[in-house]
Amino acid sequence: MEFKVLCVGDVVASPGVERIRRSLRYLKQKTGADFVIVNGENAAVLGMTPDQAEDIFDAGADVITMGNHTFGKRELCDYMDENHRVLRPANFAPQVPGYGWGVYETRFGDVAVIDLIGRCNMDYTPDNPFLMVEKILSKITAKFIFVELHAEATSEKLAMGYMLDGRVSAVWGTHTHVPTADAQVLPKGTGYVTDLGMTGPQHSVLGIRPDLSIAKFRGDLYQRYQWADGPTKLEAVLFTVDTATGSCLRAERVDLYAETAARR
Ligand SMILES: [Fe+2]
Repeated sequence: MEFKVLCVGDVVASPGVERIRRSLRYLKQKTGADFVIVNGENAAVLGMTPDQAEDIFDAGADVITMGNHTFGKRELCDYMDENHRVLRPANFAPQVPGYGWGVYETRFGDVAVIDLIGRCNMDYTPDNPFLMVEKILSKITAKFIFVELHAEATSEKLAMGYMLDGRVSAVWGTHTHVPTADAQVLPKGTGYVTDLGMTGPQHSVLGIRPDLSIAKFRGDLYQRYQWADGPTKLEAVLFTVDTATGSCLRAERVDLYAETAARR
């Protein structure tokens, strides 16, 4: 039997949340996904509100992962402490709220999800994710294990993929908001992609209005960033796992763009 897990790229701002509300159930049905993991850390641009988390769960997500903007909306702290389906990076300092990994019951058995953050070109100084994941894995007995690394550097994400190859069902990256074309099954059976991409404004610079981003790079006077209007996209990867072994059989991009949405 096959267990299909859909991993959705970083939801950006209200247009991203709205796209999740409109399209996640459709994509779940279209792909036959059994379990859905969505990165929600930019739902409120810098962070995610509890109401947005509820919207994303109502749309069909099973777990929401976060990243460097986890604490951008402080009201999420209590919500994360009470709701183990929202994960913040496990290698953040241990005194901060929330949980970095969880085990969830499904009809296929227990599914573990681990959220990690990278250290290359990131503002935080978290614990080493490569050492932290080993500590967590030593405590997990679930057959299906899924690992997200929220990181800037492609090398850091690839290294994590190869380190965990054959030991977990899939590893993927988030944070850059740009989807990579390397969805694959690594030699020992772990599904992998360097970055899922993002969910939100299609014609944008990582979700932000292009003219504002261009102005910043030109060195113009500071203007507050605003998200872009217009059509939206939903970028995601589907990992199909063999229920007998926990190994990944296929890793496929299943992105939706505005044209696809119009045909719903
Ligand atoms: Fe991020």
